[in-house]
Amino acid sequence: MDRSEAQKRIEALREQLNYHSYRYYVLDDPELTDADYDRMFRELQELEEQFPDLITPDSPTQRVGGEPLAAFEPVRHATPMLSLDNAFDDQELRDFDARLHRLLEIEEPFEYTVEPKMDGVAVELVYINGLFEVGSTRGDGVTGENITANLKTIKSIPLRLRDEEISLPARLDVRGEVYYPTEAFKKLNREREEAGEPTFVNPRNSASGSLRQLDPAITATRPLDIFVYGLGLIEGYELTSQWQALLAFKKWGLRVNPLITLCTGIEAAIEHYHNFVRMRESLPYEIDGVVIKLNEFRLQEKAGVRSRSPRWAIARKFPAHQETTRVVDIIAQVGRTGAITPVAILEPVMVGGVEVRRATLHNQDEIDRKDIRVGDTVIIQRAGDVIPEIIKVVTSKRGTNTQKYTLPKTCPACGSQLVRLEGEAVLRCENITCPAQIKESIKHFASKGAMDIDGLGDKLVEQLLAKGLISSHADLYFLQRDQLIGLDRMAEKSADNLLRAIDSSRRVPLDRFLYALGIRHVGEHIAKVLAQHYGELKKIMRAQEDELMAINEIGPQVASSIVTFFREPRNQKLIERLFEGGVRIEKQQGPAAEADQRFAGKTFVFTGALEKFTRKEAEKLVEERGGRAASSVSKKTDYLVAGPGAGSKLEKARSLGVAVITEDDFLEMLQ
Ligand code: IVH
Repeated sequence: MDRSEAQKRIEALREQLNYHSYRYYVLDDPELTDADYDRMFRELQELEEQFPDLITPDSPTQRVGGEPLAAFEPVRHATPMLSLDNAFDDQELRDFDARLHRLLEIEEPFEYTVEPKMDGVAVELVYINGLFEVGSTRGDGVTGENITANLKTIKSIPLRLRDEEISLPARLDVRGEVYYPTEAFKKLNREREEAGEPTFVNPRNSASGSLRQLDPAITATRPLDIFVYGLGLIEGYELTSQWQALLAFKKWGLRVNPLITLCTGIEAAIEHYHNFVRMRESLPYEIDGVVIKLNEFRLQEKAGVRSRSPRWAIARKFPAHQETTRVVDIIAQVGRTGAITPVAILEPVMVGGVEVRRATLHNQDEIDRKDIRVGDTVIIQRAGDVIPEIIKVVTSKRGTNTQKYTLPKTCPACGSQLVRLEGEAVLRCENITCPAQIKESIKHFASKGAMDIDGLGDKLVEQLLAKGLISSHADLYFLQRDQLIGLDRMAEKSADNLLRAIDSSRRVPLDRFLYALGIRHVGEHIAKVLAQHYGELKKIMRAQEDELMAINEIGPQVASSIVTFFREPRNQKLIERLFEGGVRIEKQQGPAAEADQRFAGKTFVFTGALEKFTRKEAEKLVEERGGRAASSVSKKTDYLVAGPGAGSKLEKARSLGVAVITEDDFLEMLQ
């Protein structure tokens, strides 16, 4: 392909990719499968690699790029980003409406938009002649920080506005809220916990943390999303109302929340607020209320603004998931890895429909910062199903004889000296025979994603340990019926049920077995990665650090933790004894490492349309069999698998004398 042909193709691809991401992100109505999208994206990437001078900053391939920043530059907003007044009940909304009627001297009911109040981070996007130029945080409302590179990684932010339906404004400053979808937030926290990293308190903090990364490559790994909801400035296009503005934003390809409604009169707006109260829990993102805005811009202008908030809009906040209660005690809990977590024991209280009896205090620094003491009256908060937390102490209610709380110097379970490792906030008990650690690791071993021994709960494990019936996980597989009968709440039937549950856990897939062992930093996901890669426990036990680190997703910390675990003779004995007790690891399906290496040393390139599998699948098939899948043809290519529509790669392969085969030939090689 020559340069001018490439340019044409590049432009066509960009246009199609932009159109399809608009269908996907804005209309939520995709016309293309992900695989097809990926294929087009890959083709564009390859063409741009060949003709780097044809790359433009608004190309869909340019979302991540550039070096990490040293700091964020200040950006002055063309018009201030205001905040909102709050209303805490329906009457305050009626007062707001009455005030506007007086102020504007209008008797007919007003039109209002009712918008979900997204709980995320407010940002401003500036588009010049349709191109995304600058993105910034709200900052103090007048000056924010330039986070353009990070915002570009958010796929629902168009790098270029669409002009298919309406013409483009010369300049558009649009405001919106970047948020972290709730499910993704939970997943992020699970992963951070597995990796021993501090977790985020709520989705808003993780959105803000992700946006304030100096390295956009990190932001790019976070599934942030955006809804736009406001106009900062517009030139070269006339908009007369909030509703009209929202419709125009959508036509320009910006993502607008589909739940926003236009209604007449404050009573209708109040009704919509109550709809949102009911809908709240089922939304895939967090909202903390609704925003009610006077629709007509002419009336907005007339009503004007106070110092920091407009008179024409108000936020109706949801009742907070917060309550007041008392700290009855603070205990130091020993986790299965020896980490000591302080936990506040609370006077039971209902928060958002759930009874709360304890709250995590994280670590000593957190206790010091909030100065939480036994006997204190505290405000606690529960967000979604995140563990309840103490927001703050009501110091005015503090008694006179309270004392600052300090975590013990020795382990509450085994008495060994606790240590605080350099750079870590947590205290640890390093005694691997500590009974509390053993109890927690047995509970983990039996838990759902691990060996899944139904009915082996907290109290039972405690009893079994206390009676000396078990002292490690492996002992579970040697328990006898008559040992169990006679334990608290253990009749014959429940003893039989437990033995049956233990027996059915004897056959276990490798990944679950690995996870059950409780190796530090090896959560369910990493366990799967290891099982997939090695297929057999023996190989993992023999693996060295550099070999482990060569696996995608396994870093130095995880690798070292795995090697240390299996090097420990006690752990080797434990595994042996599990096998003696009848545990059998099921043959893992999928790629059992060395089984099939027929493509070892061979490099494949795929081009054109494939019919039997997606390109990703085909490449995986090659890699699983020891081969390499490359994206461009060179002298080192062994096979070019060419489907219909193959272009420049086919020519290149022919000119280099590379073997060109069809998809059917490739299929045959697989058989
Ligand atoms: S309008 C002049 N609309 O709430 C009005 N704000 O306290 C300014 N927010 O900083 C904001 N959803 O981060 C508006 N649909 C919405 C909103 C919204 C969330 C946030 C925004 C702002 C804060 C105002």
